[in-house]
Amino acid sequence: MGVEMGKQKKIFVKIVACLILMGVAYRLYLSIIIPSSSSPQFIAHYSPPAPLPQLPTPPHPHPHTTSSPGSCDIFTGEWVRDPTGPPYTNTTCDTIEHHQNCMKNGRPDSDYIYWRWTPRDCNLPKFDPKTFLTFMRNKSMAFIGDSISRNHVQSLLCILSQVERPVEVYHDKEYRSKRWFFHTHNFTLSVIWSPFLTEAKIFEDYDGHASGAVRLHLDQPHSEWVNQFGKFDYVEIAAGKWFLKTAVYYENSTIVGCHNCKIENVTELEFDYAYRRALQTTLGFITKSDHKVYTLFQTTTPDHFENGEWNTGGYCNRTVPFEEGETELRDIDSIMRNVELEEFKKAVGDTNGSTLKLFDTTRLALLRPDGHPGPYRAFHPFEGKDPSAKVQNDCLHWCLPGPIDSWNDLLINILLTE
Ligand SMILES: *[C@@H]1O[C@H](CO)[C@@H](O)[C@H](O)[C@H]1NC(C)=O
Ligand SMILES: *[C@@H]1O[C@H](CO)[C@@H](O)[C@H](O)[C@H]1NC(C)=O
Ligand SMILES: *[C@@H]1O[C@H](CO)[C@@H](O)[C@H](O)[C@H]1NC(C)=O
Ligand SMILES: *[C@@H]1O[C@H](CO)[C@@H](O)[C@H](O)[C@H]1NC(C)=O
Ligand SMILES: *[C@@H]1O[C@H](CO)[C@@H](O)[C@H](O)[C@H]1NC(C)=O
Ligand SMILES: *[C@@H]1O[C@H](CO)[C@@H](O)[C@H](O)[C@H]1NC(C)=O
Ligand SMILES: *[C@@H]1O[C@H](CO)[C@@H](O)[C@H](O)[C@H]1NC(C)=O
Repeated sequence: MGVEMGKQKKIFVKIVACLILMGVAYRLYLSIIIPSSSSPQFIAHYSPPAPLPQLPTPPHPHPHTTSSPGSCDIFTGEWVRDPTGPPYTNTTCDTIEHHQNCMKNGRPDSDYIYWRWTPRDCNLPKFDPKTFLTFMRNKSMAFIGDSISRNHVQSLLCILSQVERPVEVYHDKEYRSKRWFFHTHNFTLSVIWSPFLTEAKIFEDYDGHASGAVRLHLDQPHSEWVNQFGKFDYVEIAAGKWFLKTAVYYENSTIVGCHNCKIENVTELEFDYAYRRALQTTLGFITKSDHKVYTLFQTTTPDHFENGEWNTGGYCNRTVPFEEGETELRDIDSIMRNVELEEFKKAVGDTNGSTLKLFDTTRLALLRPDGHPGPYRAFHPFEGKDPSAKVQNDCLHWCLPGPIDSWNDLLINILLTE
């Protein structure tokens, strides 16, 4: 009898495991079949419209923390109401990008700006722009990554400009890489467009319409940031979503495989292979460089499309944060974050004098489905329109002001606790 029960249990466990794996496979499959042509550049495309089994969430508390007395994991905590609101508005900051200017674009609710990230075990002071600028005197900091990095820099700029208005001293042709100079503090702030961190030939127009697969050199760090690396004192790097795109992968200038390219005799590889290799190349370059830079390595930012994806009518109209346990990381994001944690752990053990810190914002971002522009990425999206008309939602980037402002509280906390 006991043996019988044991057997049945084992079979049941096997079936459940099988179902979970099928769910994962189905999602990966969908991420492969959704073509990257016609995808707006601001949103990555993946995961299916129907709810599917979830992988377990990453262990909690975070694996990188030590529980030595006095130390505190600032990334474990909750969003707490804060009636004082954000340090700037759409009128006191005039550099908010149109797609993130939710107030101006007519978003009707504003509760989402009255929350602050609050670590469970310690006090996280509010970002003080004066302290930050004093700390950064004679220094240079760069944010390297995709549009999430740009979103973060925008937030930082809005807060800093309340103390000193920077001068924009550089932008590239497409306004994706920019540099600002704060004269009074002799501080240079850059954002560098490098969505893959490694060398990539991207065949896409500004709206994200692809005319061919990305050609991605996984062993060559992107010259765009490498050429300037010697000038930086601080960098924050972040990537992720672009690795879901159709791409041909190169190492040593030879094709090693591809993702969804459907070229004869080219091995199909999953996106996490490429992501891992690109992170190894990037972190390897940083930790082997003779120029010692303080590096913050940011974990993936999940999106909040519900009842569909970015291209199938998905939306994000929640107006309050999730509570702990109310949501789970999707498997794509779990896979990405696990790769990030593993590669960070490897790199941090051998930095040769550089400082490497994890900027682990995945979970706190996950809890904020209410902070995205949604339809208000466009100016008054419903004005003069049939209410049933389809509008494009952005459930990945953040409204400014918005939840991303809290990232700066975390940033300065890490810098100052050195
Ligand atoms: C700021 O937002 C308000 C709505 O909250 C809007 O009426 C106003 O036009 C916006 N101003 C700017 C400069 O964006
Ligand atoms: C900044 O640089 C100037 C000129 O080199 C120097 O006088 C000053 O002490 C420096 N300040 C800091 C905080 O490093
Ligand atoms: C500004 O900072 C740079 C180092 O980044 C330093 O060489 C220079 O002397 C500083 N200039 C002034 C005016 O403080
Ligand atoms: C890269 O290619 C060159 C020339 O074909 C070869 O000599 C070298 O061993 C290769 N390196 C690796 C890491 O495969
Ligand atoms: C693919 O590989 C097969 C077997 O090695 C070969 O016969 C064929 O020509 C290859 N096709 C291409 C396009 O290289
Ligand atoms: C460590 O950095 C120093 C420069 O500070 C350099 O001379 C040395 O070669 C580096 N060691 C390794 C193993 O990269
Ligand atoms: C969000 O939109 C859905 C579908 O239009 C609707 O059923 C739901 O009530 C909305 N939720 C909120 C909080 O507005």
